[in-house]
Amino acid sequence: MKNILVTGGAGFIGSNFVLYMLDKYPDYNMIVYDKLTYAGNLDNLLDASDDPRYHFVRGDICDPVTVEETIQKYDIDTIINFAAESHVDRSILDPDAFIRTSVNGTYVLLEAARRLGLERYHQISTDEVYGHIPDGYSSVESDPLEPRSPYAASKASADLLVNAYFVTYNLPVTITRGSNNIGPYQYPEKVLPLFATNAIDGLPLPVYGDGRQKREYQYVIDHCEAIDLVLHKGELGHAYNIGTAEEMENMTMVEILLDTLDKPRSLIRHVEDRPGHDRRYSLNTTKIQALGWQPRHTSAEAIRKTAVWYRDNEWWWRKIKEGDFKEYYQLQYGERLAK
Ligand SMILES: NC(=O)c1ccc[n+]([C@@H]2O[C@H](COP(=O)([O-])OP(=O)(O)OC[C@H]3O[C@@H](n4cnc5c(N)ncnc54)[C@H](O)[C@@H]3O)[C@@H](O)[C@H]2O)c1
Repeated sequence: MKNILVTGGAGFIGSNFVLYMLDKYPDYNMIVYDKLTYAGNLDNLLDASDDPRYHFVRGDICDPVTVEETIQKYDIDTIINFAAESHVDRSILDPDAFIRTSVNGTYVLLEAARRLGLERYHQISTDEVYGHIPDGYSSVESDPLEPRSPYAASKASADLLVNAYFVTYNLPVTITRGSNNIGPYQYPEKVLPLFATNAIDGLPLPVYGDGRQKREYQYVIDHCEAIDLVLHKGELGHAYNIGTAEEMENMTMVEILLDTLDKPRSLIRHVEDRPGHDRRYSLNTTKIQALGWQPRHTSAEAIRKTAVWYRDNEWWWRKIKEGDFKEYYQLQYGERLAK
């Protein structure tokens, strides 16, 4: 493993992963391949911009010609596919791009990896592929996939394709299924940066429903460490859950966030819930722990660290919130907040 193609590497987790890998492995080259949708942002990669081991290619993973040209140009041996439309609310408003990128795009990458004989294809997946999980149970990797939103269904479809390429063509694949990530460079439509930046500006925090949904909040660099471990020590053809194994109600997250930013609870506004909102996700992480991984941050530590980053990095998020984001926010929350 030396020349790694990181698709979706200008997004939140992908960019954190690129910076982490450049720092950790002096002899690896990181080639970011990204369409730069609204969620892709080269500001996330500013710290790598002068590094000769980092290259950026603007391209769509659904475009087989550019994908193959890039693999050949940079002598790629490994693909890590982070590219996806990633926001559940947007998948409810308009699923088209979700299906296209996760299903067709994953297929294009798998075909390229197969035809060009790459050393490894790694798929970044999510806990949402397991669907809503009842209290008292945590998903294991062999559980059936029961996605409930168009986003989750598009990700589950990609996992099934990856598995099919392993079984049918013996392609060397691995999959990781991460829980909710938080940290620097997350587009402010997602709950943590949305609430942190709203709180900083003294704006209401629109909490879906009763806010008693249970989630894990995982620090993005912990997730990157686990992906790195699976790349180097994971068993081919296997999926690995990555999470804190510590669940938290959304309301608890909101309270920790407000306390960290020294903002009043009166900013909390309960609004109409997301349709089909999964009440609970929970991952059994025994398999990744057996490889030697443990998260370094508790959920509370991850929330506090993330809140402080948004407080200290207005340069990054303020221009996003002042752009097209406003239109999306109005569509998603305008009526909900007006009720
Ligand atoms: N954010 C989370 O909490 C979380 C948790 C588990 C898994 N994941 C998965 O991790 C991956 C990254 O998530 P994220 O939160 O960083 O998302 P993000 O939306 O911040 O980034 C996605 C990136 O993919 C790029 N992209 C989208 N469509 C593309 C296409 N057709 N071709 C090339 N590039 C394209 C975008 O420009 C963007 O840079 C996704 O696959 C997501 O499903 C995310």
